[in-house]
Amino acid sequence: MLLTEIDHIAIAVRDLEAAVEYYQKAFGATIDHREVVESDGVEEVLMKVAESYIQLLTPTNPDSPVAKAIEKRGEGLHHIGYRVNNCAEALASMIAAGATPIDKAPRPGSRGTTVAFMHPKGSFGTLIELVQE
Ligand code: CO
Repeated sequence: MLLTEIDHIAIAVRDLEAAVEYYQKAFGATIDHREVVESDGVEEVLMKVAESYIQLLTPTNPDSPVAKAIEKRGEGLHHIGYRVNNCAEALASMIAAGATPIDKAPRPGSRGTTVAFMHPKGSFGTLIELVQE
């Protein structure tokens, strides 16, 4: 098994402050990491749950893929991050299994990770992100 953990569940929201406040009030959640990833056009907040994270994502500009996703489908579940030991190996394995890569090679993600995204088409409707810490 190449997957070692559910790294994160990413939820796309319009108002990041309101969403964070909701998670704090509802669950007593605390912010473990906050980062603007300009190359992806997102600002994200990570809240740790055991060894995984809930990731609240909001677009930083109207051309961001997350902005387009919210426009098309509304707020909600955006992608699942699967943690792996070796992103390149998992990417090759997924492609061999018929997945459609968005990233042809591993690239830098937030909090110093190495990541690769796979299109929902070819992965049974789920946008999958491979995350190597
Ligand atoms: Co992610």
